Amino acid sequence: MLNFAIKLAKEAGEIILKESKKALKIDKKGLNDLVTNADTKAETYIIKKIKSSYPSHAILAEESSFKKEISDDNYKKADYIWIIDPLDGTTNFAHSLPLYSVSIGLFKKTSIKSSKNFDYLEGEIIAGVVHAPALNETFSAQKNKGAFLNGKKIGVSKAKSLRDSLMVTGFPYENKKMNLPYFIIMMDHCQAIRRLGSAALDLCYTAAGRFDGYWEFGLKPWDIAAGSLILKEAGGTVTDVNGNMLDLFGADILVSNGKIHKEIIKLFSKIQ
Ligand code: IPD
Ligand code: CA
Ligand code: CA
Repeated sequence: MLNFAIKLAKEAGEIILKESKKALKIDKKGLNDLVTNADTKAETYIIKKIKSSYPSHAILAEESSFKKEISDDNYKKADYIWIIDPLDGTTNFAHSLPLYSVSIGLFKKTSIKSSKNFDYLEGEIIAGVVHAPALNETFSAQKNKGAFLNGKKIGVSKAKSLRDSLMVTGFPYENKKMNLPYFIIMMDHCQAIRRLGSAALDLCYTAAGRFDGYWEFGLKPWDIAAGSLILKEAGGTVTDVNGNMLDLFGADILVSNGKIHKEIIKLFSKIQ
């Protein structure tokens, strides 16, 4: 299924590159949250291919879930759920900045737990691919099999302290300011901070040792499904911002090369 996902992400990447040469049609889902014809065309293509190859699998994809095209019930029956961001970094794409990607993660469900107010899924991501078509870079991983960039094995950085670390973060479309206290405290303790604009690439660049750590709030499962597995398989540590187990639906994430993880959690714990 990983090879299927890699091929699919590359095909979707071709669709996005083709669309980038045409006049872009940009709509807004929120004040700063854009959607272009490339997002919707790439997603429609990915969904069509998954449905024809794996009809019993469920799909959680950004644009259709936004329009509520896929009913929640489809998760109850399926053992596998494809979690898709057809274009992560739409704002970059709309400004011809090549830092954008197609992200496809495969979640294997173990059970559905019912709580008083809602059902939630238990399971894990078993395969993931993040493909940056304009940069010709494809990151991929399968559980327990390592992480790869264009077929070559990758690993996290060796930095042992925040002082020597290059960090990356992002700012949610809504409530952007909530990350400011974290940004300010981090700025004083690390070497430098970057903001790329594609959560999936932030995770993969940390997996490849280009960054030493990454954190962000206000994320959706499709932003982090594939990238979090790639990071883990590259030897990194993945938690939420408080150091607890990552919840794909929990909206915040903290990843690092593992060596600086405790230092970051301690630093962030000072923020009230
Ligand atoms: C966004 C990007 C960005 C992050 C936002 C995401 P989109 O995804 O990953 O880096 O800061 O929170 O929503 O909208 O370009 O798919
Ligand atoms: Ca996204
Ligand atoms: Ca997107």
